[in-house]
Amino acid sequence: MSGQAELSGPDLEKDGIPATDLVEGKAVLGHALGEAALLVRRGADVRAIGASCTHYGGSLAEGIVVGDEVRCPLHHACFDLRTGAAIAAPALNPVACYQVSQRDGRVFITGKREPMVSLVSLRKPATAPASVVVVGAGAAGGCAVETLRAEGYEGPVTLVGRDESVPYDRPNLSKDYLAGQAPEEWIPLRDRDFYAGKRIDLRLGQEVVSIDTAARTLALKGGGTLSYGALVLATGASPSKPPIPGVDDPRVHLLRTLADSRAIIAGVTGGARKVVVVGASFIGLEVAAALRTRGLEVDVVAPEERPLERVLGAAVGDFIRALHESHGVRFHLGDKPARIDDGEVVLASGGRLPFDRVVLGVGVRPEVKLAEQAGLSIDDGIVVDELLETSAPGVFACGDVATYPDRAAGKRLRVEHWVHAQRQGQVAAQNVLGARRAYAYPPFFWSQHYDVRIAYVGRGDKGNAIQLIGDPAARDCAVIFREGAVVRAVATIGRDVLSLEVEDALERGDAQRIERLVAG
Ligand SMILES: Cc1cc2nc3c(=O)[nH]c(=O)nc-3n(C[C@H](O)[C@H](O)[C@H](O)COP(=O)(O)OP(=O)(O)OC[C@H]3O[C@@H](n4cnc5c(N)ncnc54)[C@H](O)[C@@H]3O)c2cc1C
Ligand code: FES
Repeated sequence: MSGQAELSGPDLEKDGIPATDLVEGKAVLGHALGEAALLVRRGADVRAIGASCTHYGGSLAEGIVVGDEVRCPLHHACFDLRTGAAIAAPALNPVACYQVSQRDGRVFITGKREPMVSLVSLRKPATAPASVVVVGAGAAGGCAVETLRAEGYEGPVTLVGRDESVPYDRPNLSKDYLAGQAPEEWIPLRDRDFYAGKRIDLRLGQEVVSIDTAARTLALKGGGTLSYGALVLATGASPSKPPIPGVDDPRVHLLRTLADSRAIIAGVTGGARKVVVVGASFIGLEVAAALRTRGLEVDVVAPEERPLERVLGAAVGDFIRALHESHGVRFHLGDKPARIDDGEVVLASGGRLPFDRVVLGVGVRPEVKLAEQAGLSIDDGIVVDELLETSAPGVFACGDVATYPDRAAGKRLRVEHWVHAQRQGQVAAQNVLGARRAYAYPPFFWSQHYDVRIAYVGRGDKGNAIQLIGDPAARDCAVIFREGAVVRAVATIGRDVLSLEVEDALERGDAQRIERLVAG
């Protein structure tokens, strides 16, 4: 899914701009060849690339420039200013790259350059395993196979996925897609022809049931084996089903897959009116918002006193509650389902909530079964080093399933975020090819509630001191999480540049810059 930014600013083809208007590291928005375009000074050179992010169409002019990259304000995709290549997820496609010329003290765009397909694509792989198999066709797995090809690997690549679908835009399943506002064609990240064109063997609807790391083989459910030179485990996580009596009622839904989202949609169209959401998690609340958009009555049941307080603090928790209530969501907090009877969720407090459908949003567990069976080290998730390699040489793990050493946090983390999973897939693939690139991106996620987007960088913890700057009700605030004096994470509403700057500073380990940033 992508959009085209409105054309504004100077006509960079016809009129150009004075060279003196270009300040090092600051993007200038204009247009050329009928498209929005950015100019950025880098020393004596001027770079020019497309201004509209190929993820969801964010305006790159509103992002930040970091060295030779521009970063998108919405979900932090990174593009190379020299080539237009998408060098870090979530964008997968390049933006346009333009030729620039300078005359009479003005800078002009004079034409288009060949776009780079993806990532860096500039070198031959340092090592080339005989073949690569990736298990799990989600965010991390999908990015891993693309990256192998983008990095020049020419051997056999196989992507095995339990899901019937090609890798798809999972975050959308609780947002616009569930709300009926995103068409089917936005959901797959790529079509089957893309994989065929890249000679990526798709084994969809197939499950790997065991791995023999000594023989370097995998067994598939229903028979069949695959051998591998290098293996990437990207098996993700599966939603938890709480042990509530009646939870196996067919009107009770989990939400992880496209099939789950379609089942909820089928369940709430055609006369259904009442939905109970169990869990005030990000996904639970996004489901509530999407189903209110469809005009359903929505009750949310959760044990905490404030939604999202544990992750975002009390003030933002109160704001999120008020936001959802203003859209008609009814909360039953400090409560939990005691049982699900015929058509009613019976609460521990004794209340009864009639339903047509129930959606569970109570968290996920990493899919470590395969790795456990193969004898890999497990600590919550599959233990990997900073190159994302597991305890078995030649076997890598990435995404929701991997427990990795996070540089900014100074400890091992397992992270359940989309952009993180995609970036780990990209870096794991590079390391399969011998790049020896340490994974250094701080965790980042976003969540969307009606027209409010929350961005979160770093990783806060339960015991952190929480400081609020700004006003959540004005949709302009930052929440700072500190462990002692050290800033561990920053959540923002309406402060995208701050979120990007903090991400960059966390990545560099620049604590003083973070202090300056959060001081305003
Ligand atoms: C509804 C929803 C909304 C979300 N919204 C956001 C959001 O707004 N922002 C955000 O940052 N994150 C969001 N997330 C989280 C994000 O989607 C995950 O962090 C991300 O998908 C993890 O990627 P992954 O590749 O590790 O795992 P997945 O995307 O789960 O992919 C793993 C794949 O492996 C397959 N698999 C597992 N075991 C096997 C096996 N043995 N054999 C074959 N295949 C196997 C699974 O079927 C699955 O397709 C959301 C998640 C959901 C469910
Ligand atoms: S719109 Fe740019 S990263 Fe999502």
